[in-house]
Amino acid sequence: MYRTHTCGELNIQNVDENVKLSGWVQKSRDLGGMTFIDLRDRYGLTQLVFNMEKNEELCREARKLGREFVIQAEGTVAERSNKNPKMPTGEIEILVTSLKVLNASEHPPFTIEKDTDGGDELRMKYRYLDLRRVDVRKNLELRHRMSIEIRNYLSDEKFIEVETPVLIKSTPEGARDFVVPSRMNPGQFYALPQSPQTFKQLLMVAGFDRYFQIVKCFRDEDLRADRQPEFTQIDCEMSFVGRDDVLDAFEGLSNHLFKAIKDVEITEKYPKMPYSEALDRFGNDKPDTRFGMEINDIKELTAGKGFNVFDSAEYVRGICVEGCAEYSRKQLDELTDFVRKPQIGAKGLVYVKYNEAGSFKSSVDKFYTPDDLQKWADAMGAKPGDLMLVLAGETALTRKALSELRLEMGRRLELMDPDVFKPLWVVDFPLLEWDEETSRFHAMHHPFTRPYEEDLELFKSDPGKVRAMAYDLVINGVEIGGGSIRIHNEELQQQMFDNLGFTREEASRQFGFLMGAFRYGAPPHGGIAFGFDRWVALFAGLDSIRDTIAFPKNNAGRDVMIDTPSTISAEQLEELFLAVKSPTK
Ligand code: AMO
Repeated sequence: MYRTHTCGELNIQNVDENVKLSGWVQKSRDLGGMTFIDLRDRYGLTQLVFNMEKNEELCREARKLGREFVIQAEGTVAERSNKNPKMPTGEIEILVTSLKVLNASEHPPFTIEKDTDGGDELRMKYRYLDLRRVDVRKNLELRHRMSIEIRNYLSDEKFIEVETPVLIKSTPEGARDFVVPSRMNPGQFYALPQSPQTFKQLLMVAGFDRYFQIVKCFRDEDLRADRQPEFTQIDCEMSFVGRDDVLDAFEGLSNHLFKAIKDVEITEKYPKMPYSEALDRFGNDKPDTRFGMEINDIKELTAGKGFNVFDSAEYVRGICVEGCAEYSRKQLDELTDFVRKPQIGAKGLVYVKYNEAGSFKSSVDKFYTPDDLQKWADAMGAKPGDLMLVLAGETALTRKALSELRLEMGRRLELMDPDVFKPLWVVDFPLLEWDEETSRFHAMHHPFTRPYEEDLELFKSDPGKVRAMAYDLVINGVEIGGGSIRIHNEELQQQMFDNLGFTREEASRQFGFLMGAFRYGAPPHGGIAFGFDRWVALFAGLDSIRDTIAFPKNNAGRDVMIDTPSTISAEQLEELFLAVKSPTK
């Protein structure tokens, strides 16, 4: 028997018991005649004590143990004189009577403790060591608990989990596909699913009625803190539903997770905010509504006073930052640098300080009188003591920059309380999105999304205005999930492909199987998919999804631990009828 207990289990009730523990040496301390070792396993830490006076030989052996040695220790549980109330086992220690080294360890490349000295790349390279750290492990434990709750909840709601294939044909989620060459079909490739979208629709045609799957998806796209090339969706689909049926069903799942995992009771219905309103008020389609500081349009108020930057701009809007009229030159310069960063892209920042005494001090005093600035203050709801920040320029870029500035101010002023959760549905997305690069419309969600009946006539006159029956679940500024009611008849689907500039042949080659299925009695259906990694990160209070995943990739899409992607042998290439071109710049 390796152990009678785990390292997280023993407490004052166990005093005087003879126990056996196995685990890893986290650290050891020699204090004169005593040696203390923190022994770690998945369940916690227990202090082992070796006493020079009582057993010199054993104590000398203990002193030889290095970090991360795997050992087995037997001894008696004793009450500690120096208790540690922060540790579940902090009231006791083990007076060791026998010790066995089960396996030695090289000195680890970073300390395996809560606050490690290892940088990101190093920890990724030795991920199996990083996973020994309590915080990382806790994230995976949280992920496990969430997946159990999701499965149980959805199963109780009559959803059944069905696995769909991984070697498939391109799915239209807007990213690039990862492809896999087929040895048996020379020159042909599978694509890895960007999502199981078409399969879950086929399951509805097959009459499954309610489907879900916790499933890996693969997208070759630029990576960010909230994006991995392979990530996990909670993918769901339902038949005979309208938009609000789907939203109600998954508000139920979301509320259940909040209660079961975070002990947060959400009783109010989630607000539904049209996409256009989200852009207007918050500058993006995933508003963080934990704080106000909404965007205000002051274009008309600023026009015609000789300030060309504003006069020539499409978009002149600002935010009112409460209580920050005292901001120093240096702080304002920092904000200007922030909005000018290449990834934000604004040209500059106009500020107006509404001083406590009621006077104004702005970077545009040359052009605007105090009366003018008072009108801005009225439009932005600013009071004495507040700071107004204004950006101007081309609409899409400036709106995005202003939304980033709002979030930055939210961070600086600590308005984004991690213990407050503000879920909402963003609804009525545009069906189509104009793509400058290819000069054509793309489906904003995917081409199976159903347009509003009443907008169909706009298809010809103003396709960009057609609204989709699509929705996103947004919590605290994170897009947790997205879905839509689908097109379920062939004719409308064909019209959609026409609008997206697919020729009949292209549409039939790519999605003929789905169109074919629609001819055999497809029920009205709709669904949603949640980013599971993102949901875990939100509940764990993490900014990045990386530490919700046991073996993630880095930002260049590499797994530095197993060192992949990597080249394959000439024989493998031969077998697959492939030749590799040397990469050009
Ligand atoms: P969508 O493309 O919006 O919809 O994806 C659903 C959710 O998946 C998460 N997500 C990601 N998470 C981590 N890394 C990524 N690279 C990544 N890409 C997406 C997001 C997102 O909201 N088939 C449709 C769903 C449907 O219509 O039912 C789909 O995949 O949280």
